[in-house]
Parts: sequence; structure tokens; C-alpha cells
Amino acid sequence: MKLTNPLDMHLHFRDEAMLEFVAPFSAKEFKAGVIMPNLVPPLIELNALKAYKQRVLNACKQEDFTPLMTLFYKAYDKAFLQSLRNEIFAIKLYPAGITTNSVGGVSAFDIDELKPTLEAMSELEIPLLVHGETNDFVMDREASFAPIYEKLALHFPKLKIVMEHITTKVLCELVQSFDNLHATITLHHLLLTLDDVIGGKMQPHLFCKPIAKREEDKEALCKLAFSGFEKVMFGSDSAPHPQHEKECCGCAAGVFSAPVIISVLAELFTKHSNLNNLQKFISNNACKAYKLSFSKDKIITLEQKQWQVPSVYESKDKSLKIVPFMAGQILQYQAKLED
Ligand code: NCD
Ligand code: ZN
Repeated sequence: MKLTNPLDMHLHFRDEAMLEFVAPFSAKEFKAGVIMPNLVPPLIELNALKAYKQRVLNACKQEDFTPLMTLFYKAYDKAFLQSLRNEIFAIKLYPAGITTNSVGGVSAFDIDELKPTLEAMSELEIPLLVHGETNDFVMDREASFAPIYEKLALHFPKLKIVMEHITTKVLCELVQSFDNLHATITLHHLLLTLDDVIGGKMQPHLFCKPIAKREEDKEALCKLAFSGFEKVMFGSDSAPHPQHEKECCGCAAGVFSAPVIISVLAELFTKHSNLNNLQKFISNNACKAYKLSFSKDKIITLEQKQWQVPSVYESKDKSLKIVPFMAGQILQYQAKLED
């Protein structure tokens, strides 16, 4: 069994020691990944973006991996966006204060205020990737962002809008109703509901934003992802935090799924769908939506061979420990680069 050019359309690599440590997990198994800009300070100008891209490439060592860079959304003028069009893949919008390092995000979704930047992006064909949550009651935050997505889709029909890491039935329906709306889905939201996070003893390693929702939401997500539906792409939102920042009072949001993604998706799709649809979900749909092509294919083979996910990953110098998604569990497939 093989997968061609797996793509991770939403990925947190962080910086410095954490970047060095986590980038190889994705770079080994993926052909490219959309790298999130929520550093401190966020990526808002060209030199910082280029320097970060270089640090990402260095951290990926010799792996055949393309980092697709994103800029943190704020009001930009067209000339500026034009000058860095070729350096960026997309612009990522975070509502202010909604998740890790998003304090500088957008606080009011006023069309007149957003218009100059979003029109420039439409004209330059720069996609807008949105972390769509309001600051409502936590379980309702994504669904109550739906009217904002609709408003954006209607006012900017030529703008490619990606609803990132969707977790609700409402957005599974919305992505099918507007041509310019697309969506990414994570691995963990195909597997979890809020019950898994806090239904028994609290599980800090399953705590993420958006929070896992209800069974009917998970079912809608699975149905959409497993169907291979064209406008839905895989984006892991793999978001590493050191073990001590997860296992503490004031646990950081984020699931570190990078080490297990391909293996678990292979198991899920062979059980509930087929590898053809996994190929669409993990690569073809994004290639089509973004007109992406690669001069050399990266082929990942899937071998049916059990392995146990480590309980923790530790950096060589032992300064960093990260607990992965599905720590300690036995998985059925091993993903390897075809030689
Ligand atoms: C992300 C992070 O830690 O950077 N956390 C998360 O739970 N997904 C931020 C984000 O994209 O929401
Ligand atoms: Zn994210």
C-alpha cells in the first residue's frame, strides 16, 4: 500500500529547540506542510518569514519536505502583499485571544475594515486560512463562527477561504454550500469527543482548540473525510507543547500527532473507507484546491506491522519531552519512505 505526496495542510513547528525536535517527524513522512505563523512575535513581515523558513528547512535536514509558509493576518496593503506573493502560500487569520499566541489577531469581523486586505488577497490569489472560533461558550465557539464564514464567503466570492480544523456538523454542512469555502480536518477530531477529554479523568494530552465536540459532530467529520469529498483536506494541527506545560495547572492547548498520523489514518481508512479516499484526503484534494504540483514524487509505503507509540519523545540532549497523541498504544501500520 502506498501514498503519494502526503500533505499536512496545518502544522505547528514552533521555533528553536522545539522546531529542531519536532520538524523531522513531519518531514520524514510528508512531502509538504503548511507552517503556522503563531510564533512570538507572529510572522508579519518578509525578513522574519524568510529567516523562519530557513530555520524550518535546516530543522528538516536532508528530508524531501517543502514548508509552505503563512503570514499572520493583519491589515496589509496590496503593494506589500504583491512584494511577498511568491514567498507565501497563504495568510492565516486568528480571532484575537482565541488560542496559543493569538493575542494580536482580529477582534471584530467588520467587512469594511477587512475589505482592503481581503480584496487584495483575492486579486493576488492568496488564500485565507481561518481559525474560526468566537469567544462564546466553549462548545459553541465554532458553530457561532459559521455566520462569519458565510459573510466572508459572500462578500469575497473570489477569495479562497479555508475553514481550519473543523469540528462540528454545522461546518461540515457549510463547506458544501459555498464554492469558495474549503476545510481542513485533523486526525484527532476524527477520533475524539469531549467525553474522551474530560468525561473520565481529565486527559491533558487530548486538550486542544477547537475542543473536541459531540458524537454527532465526530460522525459528520468522519463521513466527510472518509468520503474523499473534494473540498476537504487533511491538516493535522499537530501542536507540540513540552510535557510540563501540558501536565500542569493551566494546561496548554494542542495535540502532538505528527509521529502517528499516517499510521493511524491508514488504519482508519482501511477500516471505514479505502486508501483511494485517503490519497484524496491527504494529498489530491489539496493539490487540486491550491493547484500544487511537485517535480518529484515522495512515496510513502504502508506496511502492516504493529508498533507501540512511545509514552514520551525526548530530545537528544534530554531538554525537551513531548507526549505524543496515542502514547503507549499499539498501531497496525508502519509508514516508510519508499527507497
Ligand atoms: C495550537 C497551538 O498550540 O499553537 N493549539 C491547538 O490546540 N490547536 C493553536 C491553534 O491553532 O489553535
Ligand atoms: Zn493550529
